[in-house]
Amino acid sequence: MEKIIIVYGSTTGTTEGMSQLIMREIRAHASGPSDKDLISVRTTGNKPETEIKFSGLDVTVRDVASLSPKELSDYGVIILGCSTWGDGELQEDFIDFEEELRGIDLKDKRYAVFGPGESVYSQFCKAVDILGETLKQCGAHEIIEGLKVDVMGGPFEDAVRAWAKSVIQALN
Ligand SMILES: Cc1cc2nc3c(=O)[nH]c(=O)nc-3n(C[C@H](O)[C@H](O)[C@H](O)COP(=O)(O)O)c2cc1C
Repeated sequence: MEKIIIVYGSTTGTTEGMSQLIMREIRAHASGPSDKDLISVRTTGNKPETEIKFSGLDVTVRDVASLSPKELSDYGVIILGCSTWGDGELQEDFIDFEEELRGIDLKDKRYAVFGPGESVYSQFCKAVDILGETLKQCGAHEIIEGLKVDVMGGPFEDAVRAWAKSVIQALN
């Protein structure tokens, strides 16, 4: 069972909403076997045997404000979601977390990063780059390119769902 944690930092609720969407997309995918989970059919004696592999994804969502970076060690897949504030800074709850994260070994982990921002700012979605760089320095491996969402560009739910689906596909 692959354990996934989605950690968000969110001031006005946008990143939190994106996290819920991503969690639902992953859970929907992991809800049971489908045709693509069928990995082999073989015959033993007269009896055909079917081997079914469940997607086996277990996903948890946590607010960064109540999480210690050390807890990330319990998960194989780490998804961080963070909005950008100030002039290209991390959302405030992520600041201490990111500092502490720098000292943690995440060599056998995989990660993906997402976040909302507004393209009118010169440091558009900089938090996604900052956290991606930190996770890389910790030794973790990127699953897919980070998702940067311009919240001023209209509805973005479909883009978030599509990104979540790509994460799952890359994990399989
Ligand atoms: C004072 C202020 C500064 C901001 N600075 C940036 C920025 O540098 N880059 C960016 O992409 N978005 C910036 N934003 C936009 C926020 O990231 C955006 O509103 C986001 O949706 C907030 O998400 P949250 O509710 O999850 O915290 C800023 C917004 C405000 C109000």
